Amino acid sequence: MTTLTTAPLAPLLDRLFAEAAAASPETSPVMTSLSAEERGRLMRSKTDYLDFYGRLKNLPLPISRETGSLLYMLARGCRAQTIIEFGTSFGISTLHLAAALRDNGGGRLITSEFEPSKVARARDNLMAGGLIDLVEIREGDALKTLSVDLPETVDLLLLDGAKGLYPEILSLVENRLRPGAFVVADNVEYSPDYLARVRLPANGYMSTPFAEDVELSMRLG
Ligand SMILES: C[S@@+](CC[C@H](N)C(=O)[O-])C[C@H]1O[C@@H](n2cnc3c(N)ncnc32)[C@H](O)[C@@H]1O
Repeated sequence: MTTLTTAPLAPLLDRLFAEAAAASPETSPVMTSLSAEERGRLMRSKTDYLDFYGRLKNLPLPISRETGSLLYMLARGCRAQTIIEFGTSFGISTLHLAAALRDNGGGRLITSEFEPSKVARARDNLMAGGLIDLVEIREGDALKTLSVDLPETVDLLLLDGAKGLYPEILSLVENRLRPGAFVVADNVEYSPDYLARVRLPANGYMSTPFAEDVELSMRLG
């Protein structure tokens, strides 16, 4: 039995994923009012992300169930004790990662979200899942909040905030990644410069696509 697959977390995740499916960005007026070209531009932007994600503040925008399972298994498999997350939203991915820390015997998860209402929802969900004691939610732009006071070593990094910032966030955490640490990046099709970086062996990663839109990378020694 695992924390992920038993109460209170399992029924909580069932409910959160069901609510997320009913509030898909595909049907949101914020997204449907944009042309495909404008949507792609905003998803890639390194400058308009606060406004763009601010307009999406009522949507959970979570990782898929499969990616959630992957995160839990990776964090368990590498016996993670320190995890950094870029992009908390309602905390669905955070719940998977914190469950792995719990089942690893404890640890520290630092997650980052600029939208205050999302921080509040994530905190409520982590409390309902009995995992809040493992998580520090840093409110504000991750370019600032993740630039200070990081753990000496990091076992796993999840990139799931503004896609255009993946290279910058990786740079903030990179020198903390221990050999064998995993970096999971969601929706990487919107971050070509990130992909180019982790796929170039000289940059110190082994990297492979996973499922449709995830890049799984491992820091080499
Ligand atoms: C795709 S959602 C994250 C979903 C979450 N990882 C999950 O699976 O439940 C992206 C989130 O990142 C936040 N975000 C985007 N850019 C950010 C930034 N620079 N700093 C902090 N949060 C950011 C957005 O407000 C949004 O809530």
